[in-house]
Amino acid sequence: MTYQIALNFEDGVTRVIDCDEDELVMDAAFRAKINIPMDCRDGVCGTCKCFAEKGEYEMGFYLEEAMTEDEAGEGYVLSCQMTPKSDCVVKVPASSLVCKTGAETVAAEVIAVDALSETSFGLRVKLSKPIAFLPGQYVNIGVPGTDRHRSYSFSSAPGADEGSFLIRNLKGGVMSTWLGEIAKPGDKLDLTGPMGAFYLRPVERPQLWLAGGTGLAPFLAMLESVAVSGSDHPIRLYYAVTHGADLVELERMQALADQIGNVQIVTILAAKDEEHDRKGFVTDHLGLEDFNGGDSDVYLCGPPPMVEAVRQHMAALGVAPASFHFEKFNPTETPAVAA
Ligand SMILES: Cc1cc2nc3c(=O)[nH]c(=O)nc-3n(C[C@H](O)[C@H](O)[C@H](O)COP(=O)(O)OP(=O)(O)OC[C@H]3O[C@@H](n4cnc5c(N)ncnc54)[C@H](O)[C@@H]3O)c2cc1C
Ligand code: FES
Repeated sequence: MTYQIALNFEDGVTRVIDCDEDELVMDAAFRAKINIPMDCRDGVCGTCKCFAEKGEYEMGFYLEEAMTEDEAGEGYVLSCQMTPKSDCVVKVPASSLVCKTGAETVAAEVIAVDALSETSFGLRVKLSKPIAFLPGQYVNIGVPGTDRHRSYSFSSAPGADEGSFLIRNLKGGVMSTWLGEIAKPGDKLDLTGPMGAFYLRPVERPQLWLAGGTGLAPFLAMLESVAVSGSDHPIRLYYAVTHGADLVELERMQALADQIGNVQIVTILAAKDEEHDRKGFVTDHLGLEDFNGGDSDVYLCGPPPMVEAVRQHMAALGVAPASFHFEKFNPTETPAVAA
């Protein structure tokens, strides 16, 4: 049996490798030309210590000096002594460069660019090979005809032949202009990644997901993934935009929610002149009860001001969820450079 091990490096790069059930993760990494820092290879020095965020595995021999019992209990692993018993996600405390690897670049071809609303595009691409990203992660997409790239979170499920993205239409933006005025089916693109620490961890408690605008993209990938794995815990997704016309992918989300069960999708509109049940900002609707007394995982993604507002709101409420993950859709370039 062969399992997939996602190695997440300190610089945000992820490489997914195949590892046989009786193979050491360090050896499988080495086979993939990835040098996880190591010294003894015998479970003695502790140099190869990583953190297993997800998955089942067995550890061979190691000394207490290399890794304590408490560390092992918390999820630390010695990659030179670890054999997988399921797919795993392993955090490597070194950059991809130090491990002599880096993000991969995969060629893709545009299938379609759909104007999902006045403010967003749906980009669908055919991948020259599937990309094994973690749901929530992003790739850098080169803008054809320029030397620029922009970061986009997959809105589709990992490992498929096709990928999709939900992209904000920013007037005058480099990628926005290419998508709106130039792109056509068959155009070639380069996707570099996957990258990022914003990805779905094992769902072990109620989930609170907060999306602003096209910050919905990673949550679509997460819903796709949970639709396959199933979930024993409720998921509440707040999706905030400015106008009703900016709401996209509602049908798809509802279908996924019905398939998973126990998923609640709550939309919020910021514009004052709109008729809607919930108006204002996400912070106007986020109460203590949403955090389930702290026993919840919170994921937050969207434009930087929204992410900051929610962080401050959580601090003001005094809530400390079991885990908190966020991604800001920061501009790649400053206005002066992009102009
Ligand atoms: C990790 C990561 C993941 C991302 N994932 C997505 C995604 O899934 N979907 C998505 O739509 N975007 C995402 N972004 C943002 C994306 O990379 C681009 O910044 C955005 O699409 C604008 O690109 P553009 O070329 O159209 O505009 P640019 O040419 O980059 O910008 C045009 C003008 O708009 C300004 N601007 C750019 N971004 C913003 C902003 N957020 N708010 C206000 N002004 C801005 C610029 O300063 C500039 O003046 C992500 C960003 C990061 C860092
Ligand atoms: S390399 Fe020394 S414990 Fe793994």
